[in-house]
Amino acid sequence: MSTSLPSTFVYGLGEHRSSLMHDVQWSTFTMWARDAAPEELINLYGVHPFYLLMETDGLAHGSFLLNSNAMDVVLQPAPALTWRTIGGILDLYVFLGPDPSSVVSEYVEVVGKPAMPVYWALGYHLCRWGYDSSNKTWEVVREMRNYGIPQEVQWNDIDYMDRALDFTFEPASFSTLPDLVKDLHLHSQRYVMILDPGISSTQPPGTYGPFEEGIKKGIFINNSSGETLIGKVWPGLTAFPDFSNPDTHEWWYQNLQNFHSKVPFDGLWIDMNEPSNFFDGSIDGCPDNELENPPYTPYVLGGSLKAKTVCASAQQKTSSHYNLHSLYGLMEAKATASALKRILEKRPFVISRSTFPSQGKYSGHWLGDNRSQWKDLYMSIPGMLTFNLLGIPLVGADICGFSQNTTEELCVRWTQLGAFYPFTRNHNTKESLPQDPTAFSSAARTAMKEALLLRYSLFPFLYTLFHYAHVHGHTVARPLFFEFPTDGKTYRIDKQFLWGKSLLVTPVLEPGVDFVAGYMPEGLWYDFYTGNSLASKGEEMKLHAPLDKINLHLREGSIIPTQRPNTTLWVSSGQPLHLIVCLSEDGQAAGDLFWDNGESLDTYETDEYAYIVFSLKQNTMTSEVVRSHVEAMYLTVETVSFYGVKTKPSSVTVNSQEAAFNYSTNQVLRVDELGLNLSQNFTISWK
Ligand code: NOJ
Repeated sequence: MSTSLPSTFVYGLGEHRSSLMHDVQWSTFTMWARDAAPEELINLYGVHPFYLLMETDGLAHGSFLLNSNAMDVVLQPAPALTWRTIGGILDLYVFLGPDPSSVVSEYVEVVGKPAMPVYWALGYHLCRWGYDSSNKTWEVVREMRNYGIPQEVQWNDIDYMDRALDFTFEPASFSTLPDLVKDLHLHSQRYVMILDPGISSTQPPGTYGPFEEGIKKGIFINNSSGETLIGKVWPGLTAFPDFSNPDTHEWWYQNLQNFHSKVPFDGLWIDMNEPSNFFDGSIDGCPDNELENPPYTPYVLGGSLKAKTVCASAQQKTSSHYNLHSLYGLMEAKATASALKRILEKRPFVISRSTFPSQGKYSGHWLGDNRSQWKDLYMSIPGMLTFNLLGIPLVGADICGFSQNTTEELCVRWTQLGAFYPFTRNHNTKESLPQDPTAFSSAARTAMKEALLLRYSLFPFLYTLFHYAHVHGHTVARPLFFEFPTDGKTYRIDKQFLWGKSLLVTPVLEPGVDFVAGYMPEGLWYDFYTGNSLASKGEEMKLHAPLDKINLHLREGSIIPTQRPNTTLWVSSGQPLHLIVCLSEDGQAAGDLFWDNGESLDTYETDEYAYIVFSLKQNTMTSEVVRSHVEAMYLTVETVSFYGVKTKPSSVTVNSQEAAFNYSTNQVLRVDELGLNLSQNFTISWK
């Protein structure tokens, strides 16, 4: 199916490694979930046949082919686009926008709005493959605490498992795992571990329940002759659960509940769920039939549908693997999120490697096996922004890089950028040197700690953005052209991005520099740290960027709620607020705050939340409680900074009482020691 396009500005079409805006000079985006380290021009872990297109006048539209079969999407210089799928239903949606944000909201309305994450999902996650023991893992956690570096969640990769078997832990080297998890909980920290779909099929009879039960219940994928299909993953020969079968969800839940009674984990990382198979097809290969060798095979990596996965002609409960392949990660995430809800009765935390439209309802995503290279640092921005367009805002890349060894400089810059990934996790592979913040010099450690504290201070703002993603399908990390759609200079920008409407992030993406060039769209921008203003006509500017700094600018007219940070969000979330009010040219500003208990299910849907609206007009800022809730009663506003107050006030009043204030030459008015309870309306004004 082909269409001509009104412009060459095409975005979306995950999962591929690419710049944010795609090249229409005959680029083929093949869709077929695949375990492969990210490279340009190959099909990767997820499948998202959705694109967004910018028209030159600032208008936008989108198109979505809801189809799970292998396909090529071909961009052509005409400009034109061809959908070339080899099966399924042709369910084609067109979203009329008319602006890019509306296109995404309309798309998300169809595929499902992203879940509101549990609060701790937004903290700093630390992981690696190759901690080797629970005590080693614990040591890193202790080191992080000793240095006062924020850490929300400790993770373990497959090394925690006994011989790589799901639902087990290594009895010798990980014997203290339950104690480690207890200790994390005592420190308001969380524990997440990995699970792979491959279930070992070769354990001695009577020793491995998950496989034996699974066989009894008939929940594994069968080959085309109706026998359990056997492939190979980390534990050796394995069967693959068929998550299209509701019985599999129940079996998955039972196993999780069982394991949870031994190791009380808080969330799950589901990996290898393309599904990845170290054989092509199965231990016996695949039969020669039309599903394996269709009349046309899209440009899948490896040249055949079975490459590094199970046979296309394998049978699942609802259909052939040919039809269901790219849905594997979505269905596993759905089973996992629902099991977690039943076990924990809280918002489930799931991070999945393979994804499909609707995934945001059940999980977040990380961008897979990147490398410790400057190029990978940059590529993480288009990756993160694309997944925000796809309704999966909880996304990030492995900070400091997965494979190879990082350098200290790269890791500092990466931690600074990573502090602005919606999902922020440092992870690396077995062979690589440690790269958690404690592994570096004191200067590097301090820079990383500062970056993470900065993120923690922005938690109220970030959490509110996720609320908007959940309720309206907004993006959290956002390309500049979403906010400045009539400025064509923003269309290609993917080295900078925004959080919401108003926080512009300009990271350093190359070695050995202390300046960075950043585009400032037309208007007034304020330096986040100092409040210094900068008026742009829509220009590229050179910004000072020493190794311990990430450039952040606030857009005129915004009010950002920030909070005094601590080393965990649980502690931070009770700390006093600092509102930053950024005056527009005509002296106005607005912002808001969504607040709830951070972990209960459906707080918005059941009205268990507080919602506060801040606005500034004619030198008077008001904080208005639109919905009150007990959670907001413990919060106070301690400081308000007004950026861009052109003349020194003669007096400031807080709720009609005269108050002390501070005014500096860079036009920042600051009122401290306010102690205002957030659950009551208040006003601050100046003359
Ligand atoms: C592949 C994943 O992408 C990676 O993050 C993980 O460390 C390894 N599998 C080992 O589990």
